[in-house]
Amino acid sequence: MVKYVINGGKPLYGSVTISGAKNAVLGIIPAALLVEGVCRIENVPRISDVSLWLDILTYLGAKVRFVNPTTLEIDSTSLRRVDPDYDMMRRMRASYYLIGALLGRYGTARVAMPGGCDLGDRPIDQHIKGFQVLGAKIDVRNGVVNASLPMGLRAGHVYFDKVSVGATINVMLAAVRAPGLTVLENAAKEPHIVDVANFLNSMGADVRGAGTDVIKIRGVSKLRGGTYSIIPDQIEAGTFIAAVTATGGDITINNVIPKHLDCITAKFKEMGVTILDKDDAIRVIRDKPIIRTNVKTLPYPGFPTDMQPQITAVLCLANGTSVVTESIWDNRFRYVDELRRMGAQIQVDGKTAVIDAVTQLTGAPVCACDLRAGAALVIAGLAAKGHTEITGVHHIERGYENLVEKLQMLGAEISVLNVPDAEAVFRVG
Ligand code: UD1
Repeated sequence: MVKYVINGGKPLYGSVTISGAKNAVLGIIPAALLVEGVCRIENVPRISDVSLWLDILTYLGAKVRFVNPTTLEIDSTSLRRVDPDYDMMRRMRASYYLIGALLGRYGTARVAMPGGCDLGDRPIDQHIKGFQVLGAKIDVRNGVVNASLPMGLRAGHVYFDKVSVGATINVMLAAVRAPGLTVLENAAKEPHIVDVANFLNSMGADVRGAGTDVIKIRGVSKLRGGTYSIIPDQIEAGTFIAAVTATGGDITINNVIPKHLDCITAKFKEMGVTILDKDDAIRVIRDKPIIRTNVKTLPYPGFPTDMQPQITAVLCLANGTSVVTESIWDNRFRYVDELRRMGAQIQVDGKTAVIDAVTQLTGAPVCACDLRAGAALVIAGLAAKGHTEITGVHHIERGYENLVEKLQMLGAEISVLNVPDAEAVFRVG
């Protein structure tokens, strides 16, 4: 078992470089299955969810290789099989993108219901609704989604009942090969939606309007290979903003698109943090007390749910009571029990958390229950007085590249500890 060990209370100084966006690359790798030719994808983050995707593609017969540490080549010209392994699929939420990609390329998909972080109910009814409009017949049996196209793929008009990142990308993947004009209304607008659309367009697709709530897709008969570079990860950048806000200090965050961060930086500015935009970097200075605030998560361009745990950890150290409302997921406050072990004063009622600030958090043994919860515990540990040990870090490594090394470069006392399994069971149990 692996743990992160933190000796907290040190302010952060220096500079850090952000990796490619997790939620963009997790849509773009399966999109490469639509392409007959070699896709060269740059700025790929080396996170465990990417490794899992590459295992899935290799299992299907695609040729995948890193030509340098962050550039990936995928050649899906000829696949051996189209029935991905059930257990691999269950380990990742984004595995549902195989339905759209395989329907678009082969007209059939047989895919396990997806896994990923446990944030509450995670239905895929909007994905299914979109595929049905494009002519698919779908049934879910024994944990497997079976999709086919009895009359072939056709363009259509999809009005999503709910704004969904996954449904927007998934239906877009199938629609790029559907003859005619497909219109997606009430589409999600996140930067990673635009990134997947830009990737598809650079491989020969015709997708317009991504980044607005109406996306128009004119189907093409074939996608060809090409080169594409993934956008920087807005949530990773936001996590470093939260970290330096919690500890105090002055850091420069390189390789960001400041506009994509507005929905996050606006809130931290309200909290008294100074944030200076440069072309592809921001400087974040926290040299004054943290001002309390209220936060409500919303689809983009609202405050992202994937930053909710991190900002909650920071608000534990503000100058008064804050209220955080989660409006995307039903069950995204499970990490609060762990923050309480560190002295946080947080009451949760359904989808609302009331945070009474404390003057100091104290180090404790804690466990990450999901990816962003893990990030929140790292932030709390960096700010806390004393020693924190975080278990469950495999969740963190699903979505953050070299988090420990990057924090060490900023002066944090954080290290990775490999604990023999027997000792781990004894200590945790
Ligand atoms: C993606 C992100 C995740 C982020 C979330 C919201 C990936 C791999 N994951 O997840 O990190 O937290 O966006 O920004 O990109 N819903 C339905 N029916 C559906 C689909 C979704 O009711 O068919 C609901 C969900 O239960 C949730 C809301 O819509 O309440 C948003 O979900 P969605 O945007 O689809 O999240 P994901 O794409 O799974």
